[in-house]
Amino acid sequence: MGIMPDSTAAATAASAERMLSDARRGLLSEPKTLPPTYFYDAKGSMLFDRITRTPEYYLTRAECALLEREADSIAEAGGSPSLVELGAGSAEKSRVLIRALRARGLCDRYVPVDVDPTTLAETAASLVEEFAGLQVIPVVADIRSELRIPSAASRPLLCAFLGSTIGNFSRAEARLLLSRLRGDIGEDGSLLLGLDLVKDIPTIERAYNDAQGLTAEFNLNVLAVLNRELGADFDLAMFEHRAFYDPDLRRIEMHLVSRAMQGVTIPLVGEIELAKGETIRTEISCKYDRDAVEEMLRESGLELERWMEDSGRSFALALAAPADRQAVV
Ligand code: AVJ
Repeated sequence: MGIMPDSTAAATAASAERMLSDARRGLLSEPKTLPPTYFYDAKGSMLFDRITRTPEYYLTRAECALLEREADSIAEAGGSPSLVELGAGSAEKSRVLIRALRARGLCDRYVPVDVDPTTLAETAASLVEEFAGLQVIPVVADIRSELRIPSAASRPLLCAFLGSTIGNFSRAEARLLLSRLRGDIGEDGSLLLGLDLVKDIPTIERAYNDAQGLTAEFNLNVLAVLNRELGADFDLAMFEHRAFYDPDLRRIEMHLVSRAMQGVTIPLVGEIELAKGETIRTEISCKYDRDAVEEMLRESGLELERWMEDSGRSFALALAAPADRQAVV
């Protein structure tokens, strides 16, 4: 047992190309945007971990409590030899699930997928240590691109996409991603989604504006990543963190606000002009209710099998399966 490495070098080269094209597409257009993928270098992943422990960021605590409560029923309904986790990070949440699955003799393999190779290697090592006999197959990948589930991962697959990370995708992007996942998991697979729920605005906004300023640091870190990876010359002190909830679109938007008129150079991209107060939108984080989730699943050829909410109704887990599963059997 132990860790089976993925082809990290190739994945890294592909991601450098992608970062460049993302920077071009996002920063040379109006309004300016960057995909949230690039938050998660080693420092960003560490900052995100610290965010999840702030008193304001209720999402992770609510989800962990839900997973503790529901792990057995998830194991029963969607139990499988292989657990694939998208955006695994430190896998804090999946540990709960792996424990429950293994207690039932399920889950021989765990396939954590993440953009940050450093975090992934640490996660893999600590899981192998915690669960004797578990085979861990880490995959370095951007979940926006084709997911190559390693052939060593045996079916049926339970694919977990936790933390409400699906919220980072627009409706159209989410539909694309979920349809693709539906194909990846196969007719006998299932999908477990973690979803942040629509709730009072101050609670949501506080979660993205923590008093310690960790979310601000996390947001600004994406500029440091572009400086390091693309040789850009962003001055982090010239940008300010802003996060607000849009009740019509039911989503948090996170922006970096330019403190003054300024020019930034990214060698292979060009000169980027920012007016004072102009923003770069770095993330959207959609909030859901059950109807919206059922609709999103339906549009992707999936069907809701179980809906689980925490007692405070702040977060939900949705277990889904291919919509035509019954028809196929
Ligand atoms: C990991 C994408 C779910 O959107 O809440 C945390 C990332 N951004 N604070 C989220 C995040 C700002 C987080 N996700």
